[in-house]
Amino acid sequence: MVDQKFYLANRERFMSKLGNDAALFFGAQHHLRNGDAEYSFRQSSDVLYLTGWRDPDVAILLRPNSDKPFVMFVQPKDPQREIWTGRRDGPEGAVNLYGADQAFPYSELSKQLPLLLQGHNRLHYRFAENHQHDKLLMRSIAKARKQGKQNGLDFPEMFIDPSHTLHRLRLLKSDAEIKVLQKAAEITNLAHRAAMAMTKPGVFEYQLEAEISHVFRKNGGNGPGYTTIVGGGENAIILHYIENKDPLKAGDLVCVDAGCEYQWYTADVTRTWPVSGTFTDAQKELYEAVLEAQYSAIAAARVGNEFMDVHNAAVRSLTESLVQLGFLQGDIESLIENKEYKRWYMHGTSHWLGLDVHDVGPYGGKGESATLQQGMVLTIEPGLYVAPDDEEAPERFRGIGIRIEDDILIASDGPINLTESVPKTIEEIEAIVGTAE
Ligand code: GLY
Ligand code: MN
Ligand code: MN
Repeated sequence: MVDQKFYLANRERFMSKLGNDAALFFGAQHHLRNGDAEYSFRQSSDVLYLTGWRDPDVAILLRPNSDKPFVMFVQPKDPQREIWTGRRDGPEGAVNLYGADQAFPYSELSKQLPLLLQGHNRLHYRFAENHQHDKLLMRSIAKARKQGKQNGLDFPEMFIDPSHTLHRLRLLKSDAEIKVLQKAAEITNLAHRAAMAMTKPGVFEYQLEAEISHVFRKNGGNGPGYTTIVGGGENAIILHYIENKDPLKAGDLVCVDAGCEYQWYTADVTRTWPVSGTFTDAQKELYEAVLEAQYSAIAAARVGNEFMDVHNAAVRSLTESLVQLGFLQGDIESLIENKEYKRWYMHGTSHWLGLDVHDVGPYGGKGESATLQQGMVLTIEPGLYVAPDDEEAPERFRGIGIRIEDDILIASDGPINLTESVPKTIEEIEAIVGTAE
């Protein structure tokens, strides 16, 4: 599904926008967790998108108008180090396996970069993300300027954040990328189903998390694309609850936000289900309100609509339900205008999705909103969260938190729900919860 052609296609799309410009990207940094223990390394999404290169200490230089358009700087082969930290492809592998036109050991970056930057007046580079990289580039530019002046060649004088080009491309998913996201969605479906099936009172939140991670890995995923959230009862009201430490209680709901990362692309799915297998009346009413809001937001996810239309559809539907259920009184338009819903719905409805869970790409400037186009993928995740001591909420709803989240592809003839197979209606959910042996 993902081979060098996949990355070549991504790279060519980006390079076709560069003209005579050059673009420079550094990989992600290794970070210590504690003592000598490292976090497991995950490459930066820009480097993955352009090359698929997985190892640390990498820089990529792209210069379409040159005889060596794709240059990589990578860790050299080192038999002694490889005994400790694993196999390296080295510069040879960068050329033979990854299609680089030229590759150097990473340690040669400061020597080669001034030479390779000559002839390019504009450089796409993201400053102020990593001080060391910035410093190295500054020194290279100073050298390139000096040498360029002597030999009459251009040197970088104009600097552009690559997000203007690369991140706009990453926002529009190719068919190949969509296939990968579909696979991430498929595994995520299996994981949510397994978690639903094993749910019963007394099971711990971390046991659901463990089952989800198990299904992700068992099916060839990298693991969760973001830390799994399992919030039983009132824990669901903490939006980024990742402690996952409490036992699930009979009569409560559990809210699970978990997405599998597959070939570095992640799904992002939330479901909320009853610990004992059936919704109470109050839970059902609130659940239906969120579900209805999600359906109307999904219906707004159409080519030509704006990103904010999706949120606005969710907000309108939720506000209407909040009036019907006795949370709010008054005229719908003014309730929306005054953002009265915010007490119970305090987050946005959508974000772009792809290599990053909160994926790159513009959302529109101040007072503007991005126009939805074919190939964009976004989440739609309305919720309602009622604090246990919320005196403004009808008593029967206090302590309930619900979110429902799917991954939606904008297609020419309407929205496609990539995560549709994850059980979502009350009937589907009640049919599966607690069914594991
Ligand atoms: N899982 C993070 C989010 O839904 O935005
Ligand atoms: Mn999300
Ligand atoms: Mn989520």
